[in-house]
Amino acid sequence: YLEEKIVNQPKIGLILGSGLGDLAEEIEAATEVEYSSIPYFPISTVEGHAGKLVIGNLQGNVVIAMQGRFHYYEGYSMQEVTFPVRVMQALGVETLLVTNACGGMNPSFQPGDLMVIEDHINMTGTNPLIGRNDEKLGPRFPDMSQAYDKSLQKIAENAAESIGISVQKGVYTGISGPAFMTAAELIMLRRLGGDVVGMSTVPEVITARHAGLKVLGISCITDMAVGEEIEGVSHEEVMETASKTKPKFIALVKQILKEM
Ligand code: ADE
Repeated sequence: YLEEKIVNQPKIGLILGSGLGDLAEEIEAATEVEYSSIPYFPISTVEGHAGKLVIGNLQGNVVIAMQGRFHYYEGYSMQEVTFPVRVMQALGVETLLVTNACGGMNPSFQPGDLMVIEDHINMTGTNPLIGRNDEKLGPRFPDMSQAYDKSLQKIAENAAESIGISVQKGVYTGISGPAFMTAAELIMLRRLGGDVVGMSTVPEVITARHAGLKVLGISCITDMAVGEEIEGVSHEEVMETASKTKPKFIALVKQILKEM
C-alpha cells in the first residue's frame, strides 16, 4: 500500500517522543499518509489523537517519521506499539532513531539533560516478540548484545559537540507505565544498573533489532527519579521540561541526521 505512494525509499525511521513530533513538520517534499488509511495500522484509542506517517527529506536524508506514537500504557498491545517498526522494515529502512522523555535515576544527571542511550533494561514484564515466530520478520532468538549501534552513538556525541551542547550517556530502563515507580522500585532499578527510567522505546528497539535495523536512542531527562530523594512527579512537570528542552533536542536530532 505504502510503496505505491512513496517516491524515494526512506532509509531512516524516526519515532519521536516527548513532543518532538513537531520535527516531522520540517520534512521537505513530504508525502503524508494518515494511519487510518493504512491497512492493519493501529488507530489511536485516544479520542482526537489521530496520526500520520510523514515521508520525505530531512537534513539530506530520506526519512519516514511517525506523527503520533503508540504506548503500551494507553492500552495498545506490544504488537500495535511496534507495528510502525514493521512498516519501516517492509519499506527497507535501515536505521531507527528513537527519542523519549524519561526520569533521571543517576544522581549526576539533571532535568533538561539529553542522554545517548548505550543500552536498556527491559522491565516492562513482557516484550513484542512473544508468540509464534515468523522467519520472514526475523530470527526466533535475536541477538541483543549490542542493541544500540556504537558508531551511531559516536555520531550523536560528535553532533552534540559540533553544536556546543553536552550529552550524558547511559542505560535506559523501560517500564510499562502508566504509574510512576515507587521509591523502593527506583532504588532497585538504580541498583540494577539503570541511569534513567521511562515508559517507551524498549518495545520498539527489540522489534527493530529483530528486524535487523540499527538503532540510535536519545532521551530527554524531564525529572529526577532518585528513590532516596523522590518528591513525586507529575505528567505536567514532565511535559513542561520536555517543552523547555525541545529546541536543544531538535537541534541535536537535526545535526545527527546531517552527520549520518
Ligand atoms: N517519563 C518521564 N519521567 C518519567 C519517570 N520519572 N518515570 C517513568 N517515566 C517517565
